[in-house]
Amino acid sequence: MSSSSAVLIAPSILSADFGRLAEEVSRVEAAGADMIHVDVMDGHFVPNLTAGPPIVEALRKVTRLPLDVHLMMTNPEVFLTAFAQAGANYLTVHVEACPHLHRTVQAIKECGVLAGVTLNPATPLSALEEILPEVDLVLIMSVNPGFGGQHFLPASLDRIRRMRQMLLHVQSRALLEVDGGIKVDNASAVVQAGAQVLVAGSAIFHSQDYTATIHALRAAAQTIHV
Ligand code: DX5
Ligand code: ZN
Repeated sequence: MSSSSAVLIAPSILSADFGRLAEEVSRVEAAGADMIHVDVMDGHFVPNLTAGPPIVEALRKVTRLPLDVHLMMTNPEVFLTAFAQAGANYLTVHVEACPHLHRTVQAIKECGVLAGVTLNPATPLSALEEILPEVDLVLIMSVNPGFGGQHFLPASLDRIRRMRQMLLHVQSRALLEVDGGIKVDNASAVVQAGAQVLVAGSAIFHSQDYTATIHALRAAAQTIHV
């Protein structure tokens, strides 16, 4: 996929009704979602606990969409095989949690899934510079990870722009994804800065009409302000 392709919308199920997860995923799939974003939190790397491989396995049975699994956990290496076998398509790890990031990225690929890397808002982008040629997805966090419904950090826009330049510099075809505080009113700026994948949790799952919200996000993303 090139940077000129259409934007992809990835609803984050963190803000879905967990008691009706299958139905929620079916609804966003029918509403035009492109991927399902699954937030894995370990209560250690981030101060929250969420889902593990059994949830990914359950989701795999109810959707054909790619499962974009965001691992907010220490020692993700221990669980890569389990998440891959459960049906993840992308496994994205945090550079802050991976002292041997190159090894971890190779291990993801050896599982037969696509490799993503991400970093917290205060981590310099240069921490990912050497690994860019190896990865399929780069995720820019636009909130401090751990919770849905936080406000988009404005400094993220410049980080997206700079990461887009870094990807161009190494002629990478990795997807550039942004996660945290994405709403209809900032989607245009985020895409103009260089994002191709918009993760949106509360914006979609706390709305009344998922189809209308996904449509509005996509329409906003395609609106270029000069
Ligand atoms: C935050 C998670 C996000 C979160 C986004 O730690 O990684 O994926 O669910 O939620 P919103 O879109 O509500 O900021
Ligand atoms: Zn996420």
